[in-house]
Amino acid sequence: MKYRHSFHAGNFADVHKHVTLLALLSALQRKDKGLLYFETHAGRGLYDLGGADSQASAEARAGIGMLRATHSDTAELAALLAASERACGSGAQLYAGSPLLAAQLLRPQDRGLCCEILPPECRALERTLRDYPRMRCLCADGLTALSAYLPPVERRALVLIDPPYEDPALDLQRGLDAISAILARLANAVIALWYPIKDARDLAPWLLRVAAQASAPTLKAQLWVHPTDSRVALNGSGLLLVNPPYEFDTRMQAWLPELAAALGGAAAAGGASVQAGSSLDWILHGH
Ligand SMILES: C[S@@+](CC[C@H](N)C(=O)[O-])C[C@H]1O[C@@H](n2cnc3c(N)ncnc32)[C@H](O)[C@@H]1O
Repeated sequence: MKYRHSFHAGNFADVHKHVTLLALLSALQRKDKGLLYFETHAGRGLYDLGGADSQASAEARAGIGMLRATHSDTAELAALLAASERACGSGAQLYAGSPLLAAQLLRPQDRGLCCEILPPECRALERTLRDYPRMRCLCADGLTALSAYLPPVERRALVLIDPPYEDPALDLQRGLDAISAILARLANAVIALWYPIKDARDLAPWLLRVAAQASAPTLKAQLWVHPTDSRVALNGSGLLLVNPPYEFDTRMQAWLPELAAALGGAAAAGGASVQAGSSLDWILHGH
């Protein structure tokens, strides 16, 4: 496995995923009852963006850097900026991954479990989370581990599935299988599955399978910063949200276009034509 999230930390796709993750967690925490936060592909939790010339730094400037520059006071966007600053300080050298962002939000009645398969990344994750006793790390295959930990005693869970997509077809299919397996164990589980958008046409058959299989309310939230009909690069970021909290779609309709506009500004500044945008659709309607 060659994928290292360090090269991409803080890019536009991370920002899309992490704003959504924090919004999901806070919406679920409107209820007092505790929950399990389960992450199948956790990474190291904290990333050094390196020097000004590094690829990591360039991707992050076009992601979290652009969001910082907007000084948005929209609650969901401001929440990621505040959580990043709490975790990393106000400098732009570090970026917090999903396990650290989520760990900061866990209440005494919540707990978290983060799986990472690569031993060095997992050890780094353990160091990152050492001050968060409610968050446990598991150096294991997150998709296999799911069945051992679900359903949780809390009977409430938020599961983030964020594979590396080194083999896109395989990870897309595994993600879909994981959604079925999770729902079979906990029908009310809230699930966020991230997927990359290069050429949207390549995703179409998979999205048809998602729709055919959907047995719980499912939202598709996409954000792109380049045209989605070219296979050249990562053009957009997609999230399937299963069992999203009540009125989550209404809030997202307000902040997702604002986020796309903020992140699309980076493509414009880089000389690319501005083709940023976003979409939000129910695959299976809820509420
Ligand atoms: C996209 S990164 C995760 C980023 C992280 N979720 C975040 O947003 O900060 C994917 C990670 O999954 C790890 N990984 C790959 N296959 C895995 C598996 N089967 N189980 C657990 N982790 C896996 C990779 O080593 C990599 O660190």
